[in-house]
Amino acid sequence: MQKKLNKIAKDTNIFLKRFIKKQKKSELIVPMQYGLFSGGKKIRSKILVDVGSIFNLNYKTLLIIGAAVECIHAYSLIHDDLPCMDNDLIRRGKPSTHIKFGESTAVLAGNSLLTMAFEILSHKDLNINEKTKIRLINKISESSGHLGIAGGQYLDLSYEHKKISEKKIIEMEIKKTGKLFSFCCVAPLILKNKSKKDIQKFENIGADIGLLFQVADDLIDYNGSLSAAGKKTGKDKKKGKATLISLLGDKNTIKYANKLILKINTKLKKYGPKSKNLTETLNYILNRNK
Ligand code: IPE
Ligand code: IPE
Ligand code: MG
Ligand code: MG
Ligand code: MG
Repeated sequence: MQKKLNKIAKDTNIFLKRFIKKQKKSELIVPMQYGLFSGGKKIRSKILVDVGSIFNLNYKTLLIIGAAVECIHAYSLIHDDLPCMDNDLIRRGKPSTHIKFGESTAVLAGNSLLTMAFEILSHKDLNINEKTKIRLINKISESSGHLGIAGGQYLDLSYEHKKISEKKIIEMEIKKTGKLFSFCCVAPLILKNKSKKDIQKFENIGADIGLLFQVADDLIDYNGSLSAAGKKTGKDKKKGKATLISLLGDKNTIKYANKLILKINTKLKKYGPKSKNLTETLNYILNRNK
């Protein structure tokens, strides 16, 4: 699993470095590269490749779409660490982007990474038909805006120090993290022009995978260490973040996460051995320490 993940991370970084190199230079490139390449698991690209392999899709195509996803993810982390949000000084074992380059530069590098995702998807090197491209761009936009990452981040911050119901916490975690995973699960079906019903099914699987990912991230914050996680832990409690752990306790949250894995795997059964890679990734997501 780790080997496969490392290969996807390496290939994604190579693609992104080449893509940036082909563009004209600017002062924002260095902080953008810092946000993209200073570590990072590239787990979202792995999910895209895993789902893509169920539908026999071309690796290179999946990698390019994954690279766009990773740009949006990198942007979301740069902004997430800002003083007006989680105010975190360390990311991936290094100073956060705004600590290294200053706040305004971090905001602008984040914006530029967000828009770079759309440059990648609309670029001619992504050799798929234009209707499909537009559907992908439409879907990834929806996952990132007020109904996705941005909307979820808004809720995450507005729920601090408040008693929030389980339903609302789950809804917030699905927006801030789940929607981008939904995109990764749905993109292969869009490429294959699958039915609305199948797309909805993978939209839901993606939301559950994203929720699992965020719950595991919350568990790392609860139990983990700075040296393993590469970011300061124990902060969610200090900041009064509404998480399943703060509501149900850590033991029940672990139970909840295991049930989620069972639920996802039941939905994947239909796809037989082809879904083995994805199942492997789910176990990695819950058991990781960074
Ligand atoms: C961290 O994401 C933020 C969440 C959405 C929980 P990752 O754990 O994927 O971050 P990197 O890219 O691997 O550092
Ligand atoms: C971040 O969640 C979710 C995003 C969409 C960026 P967290 O705030 O828990 O992520 P970390 O723990 O700082 O990586
Ligand atoms: Mg946050
Ligand atoms: Mg944070
Ligand atoms: Mg966290």
